[in-house]
Amino acid sequence: MNIREEFGDLDIYLFDQLLKGRIQPAMKILDAGCGKGRNLIYFLRHGYQVFAVDADANAVDAVRKLAAQLAPTLAQENFHVAAVSALPFASEQFDLVISSAVLHFATDEAHFHHMLDEMWRVLKPGGIFFARLASSIGIEAHLQTLGERRYRLPDGSARFLVDAALLHQTSARLQGRWLDPLKTTNVENLRCMTTWVLEKC
Ligand SMILES: C[S@@+](CC[C@H](N)C(=O)[O-])C[C@H]1O[C@@H](n2cnc3c(N)ncnc32)[C@H](O)[C@@H]1O
Repeated sequence: MNIREEFGDLDIYLFDQLLKGRIQPAMKILDAGCGKGRNLIYFLRHGYQVFAVDADANAVDAVRKLAAQLAPTLAQENFHVAAVSALPFASEQFDLVISSAVLHFATDEAHFHHMLDEMWRVLKPGGIFFARLASSIGIEAHLQTLGERRYRLPDGSARFLVDAALLHQTSARLQGRWLDPLKTTNVENLRCMTTWVLEKC
């Protein structure tokens, strides 16, 4: 097997969910904020029911092309230009919702909750919510405050940053069951990326 061809640039913590056996073939998956689809290559190759949205039409176009190549029987209508805060799907239909490097583009806390509530709405009971997002966890002393939970990071970017308290409060509000503890990767004090995985009860 050519690992690179098989998995592409799949996020390492999403790969961890695969290794744990939580993402089973034939599951219905939504990548909310899919970019060019780096996290979808394995799922497209292996018969998962893949859906994706992104606000950027070029990104959705790239994912449509990827799907046409790797999963030609999948409907092109599965891929939409849409905001995560207004998903064009009925409620409770996905087994897995992926939010990879998207929630830290929230403009403020209301927008963050709005995006989350939409992703939660379309998740089936028993479904998995997988998020990787920038956080302040571990780099608090290196941040410049710009506004409500918005910060300038040492790498120069401006982001909406969560902390552990907000993720715990939000998980309780959604009544999500923690599947893993929070895990945060600190990239040389330039930025921190946190992995947050919940099951919808
Ligand atoms: C850093 S890229 C991550 C792409 C992909 N999820 C990945 O992990 O490679 C962020 C993506 O989220 C999209 N995005 C940001 N905010 C969004 C929103 N509110 N609704 C839909 N897409 C959004 C951007 O257009 C971009 O494609």
